[in-house]
Order: sequence, then C-alpha cells, then structure tokens
Amino acid sequence: MFEKHIACIGAGYVGGPTMAVIAMKCPQYKVTVVDVNEARIKAWQTENLPIYEPGLLEVVKEARGRNLFFSTDIDAAIRESEIIFVSVNTPTKTFGEGSGKAADLQYWEKVAREILHESESPKIVIEKSTLPVKTSQTMENILNANDKNIHFDVISNPEFLAEGTAVKDLLEPDRVLIGSRETPGGLKARQSIVDIYANWVPADRIVTSNVWSAELSKLVANAFLAQRISSINSISALCERTEASVQEVSHAVGMDTRIGSRFLNASIGFGGSCFKKDILNLVYICEAYHLPEVAQYWEWVLKMNEYQESRFVRNMVRSMFNTIVDKRIALFGFAFKSNTGDTRESPAIYVAKKLLEEKADVVITDPKAIENARIDLAGCEGNINYIEDPYEAARGVHAVAIMTEWDLYRNLSWDKIYASMEKPAFVFDGRNILDIEKLFNIGFNVFPLGHPPLKHF
Ligand code: NAD
Ligand code: UDX
Repeated sequence: MFEKHIACIGAGYVGGPTMAVIAMKCPQYKVTVVDVNEARIKAWQTENLPIYEPGLLEVVKEARGRNLFFSTDIDAAIRESEIIFVSVNTPTKTFGEGSGKAADLQYWEKVAREILHESESPKIVIEKSTLPVKTSQTMENILNANDKNIHFDVISNPEFLAEGTAVKDLLEPDRVLIGSRETPGGLKARQSIVDIYANWVPADRIVTSNVWSAELSKLVANAFLAQRISSINSISALCERTEASVQEVSHAVGMDTRIGSRFLNASIGFGGSCFKKDILNLVYICEAYHLPEVAQYWEWVLKMNEYQESRFVRNMVRSMFNTIVDKRIALFGFAFKSNTGDTRESPAIYVAKKLLEEKADVVITDPKAIENARIDLAGCEGNINYIEDPYEAARGVHAVAIMTEWDLYRNLSWDKIYASMEKPAFVFDGRNILDIEKLFNIGFNVFPLGHPPLKHF
C-alpha cells in the first residue's frame, strides 16, 4: 500500500523532527522511527514529545498513525525498509586515541552491524548524523563485507536544522545536500533520496555532490557559523575597552552584503550539541592529515568561546566589588538558545558552576529548561534554587544575568524586578536583549556585552 518504506534509527533532536516532516509531506511513504531508548519512543507517541520544538507537535500529529510510526523494534524496521536513515548521536570521544577531540563512532558502527545482521535485501543507508569525512568508506566496508550477497549504498545527507527553528528549517531549507559515490549504482541511490525531498523542496535547493564533499560540508558549515560568533565575541572585548558598541559595530559590518548580518550577535559564547563537538572533530581530522596550522586555526574558534565565557564571570565578580560570597544571583535562561529546552553545552552551565565556586547562591529560571538544568548541575556543591517564574526568581537577588535570549525577558516589568532586588542592583546582559538606558534610569547598574557599563557609582 505504501510506495516506499523508510526507517530512521535514532529518535532524537534530528531523527524525530526530520522524519515527522518527511512523513507529513509524503503520505505515500511509510516512515518508522526507531530507538533503543524506550522512554523516548513512548514520549513520541504522546502529546508530550521528548523534545520542545515550536510547531513540531502539529506536524507529528498530522502524520502519526497514518504513515509515521515510532517503535523500539529496530530489527523489524530494518527488515521492512529499503531506505534507512541513521541519526544516532556522534559525541566527542572521551577515552583512548583521540579522546577529547575525535568523534565517538561506536553508536554508528553498532547500527551498521545491526543493519548488516538483519538485512535480507539491498538497502540505501543514509548518514544523517554528522560524521568525519570518509566515514562512509568505513561504513561501506563493514556493510558490503557480507556473505549474503546483499549490496548496500551509503549516502551522506547531513542535517542543517537548528534547534528552536527545526520545523521551519526542514519545511523551507536553504539547501538539502545529498552526496553519493559517482558510480552508476551510487548515482541511482542518490536519485532515490533526491526523489524524497523533491516532494516539497524546490529542485534548485537540492544540491548533490560526491560523498566526501557532503560529509565535509557539514563540519565546515558549523565551523564557519561558530567562527562568526567567536569573531564578534572577540570584538565585544575590545568594544568594552574602547567605548565602542558591539551592536553598532556588528550592524555596520553586517550591512556589507559580502559579510551579511546574520550570526553576528555577541553572546556569552555559543552552546549547543554541535558546534564544539564538530569543530573538535574538524581539528582532529586536520591533525590526522598532518595539517597542524589548519587545526590550530580552527581550534582558536573554541578557545575564543571559552575566553568569552570566563570573561563574563570575571566581569561579574569584579563589578560586584570583587566578591560574590553569599550573594544571590539569578540566571535568566539556562537553555543554550531560546525556543528550546536543550541545555547541551549551554554557557549557562559554565557560568552557574563558576558562580557556585565563588560561593554565590544561584537561582535558575527558564521557561523550558529547568528539568535539564537540574540534571546538569546535579552534584554541584552550593546553594541552587530552581524557580520558573522570573519575578520570583529575582526576588531578593543582588544581580540578574541574562543567559538565554528568550523574548519573555525583554518584555518583563523591570521596575517590578528592581523593586524586589537587593541594592545596588546589577544586570549583566549576556545576550544584549535589554533596553539598557531604560534599566539604567530605573536604577540598575547595567553591564551589557561589548558596551561600556552604565553605572550609578
Ligand atoms: P540525540 O542524542 O538527541 O539522538 C540520538 C538518538 O540515537 C538517541 O535517542 C539514542 O538513544 C539513539 N541511539 C543511539 N544508539 C542507538 C542504537 N544503537 N540504536 C538505536 N538508537 C540509538 O542526538 P541528535 O541531537 O539528534 O544528533 C544526532 C546526530 O545529528 C549527531 O551526529 C549530531 O551531530 C547531528 N546533528 C544534530 C543537530 C542538532 O541540532 N541536535 C543538528 C544537525 C545534526
Ligand atoms: C547549529 C547550526 O546552526 C545548525 O545548522 C546545525 O545543524 C546544528 O548546529 P544549533 O546549535 O541548534 O544549530 O543553534 P544555532 O542557532 O546555530 O546556535 C548555536 C549557538 O550559537 C547558540 O548558543 C546561540 O545562542 C549562539 N549564537 C548564535 C550566538 O551566540 N550568536 C549568534 O549570532 C548566533
């Protein structure tokens, strides 16, 4: 009854939304998303999805039960499907050779072996996870070393969605990249994947390439994006010394159409599950190919990010008269960016830990990420409170620090917050989202990023 059977192994931030959109746009295909994590699969079957992503529930509900299914029966999904996307996690390795830099491919390889073990017919296996360049060669070697006479094609189709805008990014992608071997078989497999996306993505946005270019492009895209943030963050430090404003600089610089205005917002540093891990992976690959200068070039993007995080905390301590012992500080936001509950690599984790080391009392507030924050800070010594209402979180604190650019925080009644705080009251805006003149006139001492502070003393 269905034209094609598609499986996706890995029901996380990428697998879930990506497959939901494919299923919604292509009712002629049966799409089954499988995972070893039973709780996650159960949650995908409810109204309370395992990840928060604007618009995702509507997409899932349109297709779920019709042609979109969630299951823990990985083997059955493999047997049934001729096309298998793999979107399992590929974290940074924490042991052995390449520890702290290389990608940990153990989950990927396990899946490849499971596909090999269960398959009774030829399959197209798609790298949806972000992987080191040349991984598909290893995968082909593993998959095609079978005595069942089954042929596997490996395609690279990296995912460029960003969290918080995943549904929009999937429905209207800047581009979909599909890389394959350029053999007759490889080109045929490539076309099958092009045909899936052609159901809703305009032809000129579907880009094809050789398989290595596709794998590498994903790492490079993330490295370029992160590099822009590190570039503007480095300039924010200079602005603070020179009475320039980083927002004015980034506006002026970004108006050059060759540079472009996006991704030039100074911040406490980039977070998220991808940038750090993918740049570390790129650095490792460059080192492995004996390109130390190239490796160091990209490593500095990460060093600058760490510098920005530590600079932020240092500035807080210095500004609050060089001690924050027993001072209560509210962190507004804990997610690594707005519109997500994800806290992976969130700079707020670093800031919270450092403030606790300085013996401050920390209050965490966030509209979506409190549960993850509790997990991230479990075991930390010191006084931590989790309070969802920002007004309650700010009551009696010496300072508020903006960690995440939630719209909610722009529109708060800052008069009310000021009235309930200890004096002198401090605001450290790690995202430059507040009206600093207004806050200064209320009575706050305001410390924006990349801008001289507005102080009453
Ligand atoms: P995730 O941790 O949210 O999801 C991965 C899922 O794979 C988990 O649910 C895990 O249980 C499952 N899994 C692991 N091993 C398995 C196995 N053997 N069998 C079945 N399921 C298994 O990760 P994610 O954020 O979705 O990222 C997945 C990949 O996509 C990574 O390579 C990442 O770099 C890449 N990526 C992520 C994003 C993002 O915004 N999160 C964007 C683009 C690309
Ligand atoms: C990123 C890539 O954008 C996406 O294409 C890829 O598929 C996965 O990695 P994501 O990590 O979800 O997506 O979010 P992104 O919007 O890129 O933000 C990453 C971090 O950079 C966040 O902490 C964000 O707050 C920060 N950021 C972003 C800035 O500090 N300044 C900016 O101007 C933009």
